[in-house]
Amino acid sequence: MNILDIIDKKEKGETLTKEELKYTVEGYLNGTIKDYQMSAFLTEIDLLGLSEEETINLTDIMLHSGETLDLGINNLSDKHSTGGVGDKTTIVLAPLVASLGVKIAKMSGRGLGHTGGTIDKLESIQGFQTSMTLDKFKNQVNEIGLALVGQMGNLVPADKKIYALRDVTGTVDSIPLIASSIMSKKLASGASNIVIDLKVGSGALVNSLDEAKKLANLMVKIGKNNNKKTSCVLTNMDEPLGYAIGNSLEVIEAINTLKGKGPEDLTNLVIKLGGLMTHMALNIDEKIAEEKVKENLYNGKGYQKMLEWIQAQGGNIENIKIAKNKKTILAKNEGYISKIDALEIGKLARKIGAGRLNKDDQIDLTVGIILNHKVGDYVQKNEPLAEILYNDKQITDEEFLSCYSFTNQKIDKPKLIIDIIK
Ligand code: URA
Repeated sequence: MNILDIIDKKEKGETLTKEELKYTVEGYLNGTIKDYQMSAFLTEIDLLGLSEEETINLTDIMLHSGETLDLGINNLSDKHSTGGVGDKTTIVLAPLVASLGVKIAKMSGRGLGHTGGTIDKLESIQGFQTSMTLDKFKNQVNEIGLALVGQMGNLVPADKKIYALRDVTGTVDSIPLIASSIMSKKLASGASNIVIDLKVGSGALVNSLDEAKKLANLMVKIGKNNNKKTSCVLTNMDEPLGYAIGNSLEVIEAINTLKGKGPEDLTNLVIKLGGLMTHMALNIDEKIAEEKVKENLYNGKGYQKMLEWIQAQGGNIENIKIAKNKKTILAKNEGYISKIDALEIGKLARKIGAGRLNKDDQIDLTVGIILNHKVGDYVQKNEPLAEILYNDKQITDEEFLSCYSFTNQKIDKPKLIIDIIK
């Protein structure tokens, strides 16, 4: 077997065997297959796709490329988001479902994106520890039902190496490669119930609904093939989620949401995702599960669980720093907001330091943007559209306003939950 024949076979549109896929992934991981050969292989997949069986096999090979986590705790649940601007969902959802008895032992990432990942965001809470020993991780899940840390162990090393190459070869958007990347990591972290929030829209990895549905079906199939309950919720990411963009600002919005005072879109999203997670983990009717989630969102039990969780990980919820300088952006004209470009807003947040361009960039956890309005809102001329909280870098009015479109016609608010595939 050799890599040139394998690339050739794929190029002819033939199906690769599991042995050929294993040879390629293992060869790349141990260095016998070079970057340029793997790039050619990934490009073929990007252009021609993989069959369902090939994708299932590739996921299995990636999954077994490193350690898998077994905490010895039954019926763990996990949630994954494909990432979007203003996405602080996990910080609300995890304690909320834990307050109903859903057990969460979650590893999250740092973002290489417009704002930080969940781990960066949580580090804006003074003292919050995002790493711990495996024993403490396990004990905390057993004691309070929830622990959330950065990546630990050598889980799915094949994905780390392949993802870094995909990032620089324009192959990040391949559906089978995304499915195998996400699902190998979810399966390696050992949860029995997996809910995926698949973002669709301008600020998301996947822009088209058709592609998103294909990806969702594929991930659900891979999960079920591995005897995991798996659901995928397709959600709109044309505009940012909630009003806050930037690490500490997003944590504050997450806290307010758990106090029952969150933005409508974020609140609806955590109720939907939480309902699904609770339904899957506790084996109760989905509608009843959703009601329970709502109850704990408004009766303070979700918030109490958040306090318990943050304290268990050493954080001081009273001490979350935000930047001192504030600039208000005013609307130039009146009208209904028809678009707030999530991607461009994300890039502006990154420009003032809220996100990373390179892996080793330092994030400024205190800066960000607070929107005053969402798509569908009517604004008057000179009404404040947003506040920028900044330190040493700035956003101009022109840059910010170029992310917006307005119309004279009243328009409907975009639908947040597009579809659920299970
Ligand atoms: N997130 C992942 O973990 N992998 C992908 O390929 C895309 C998004």
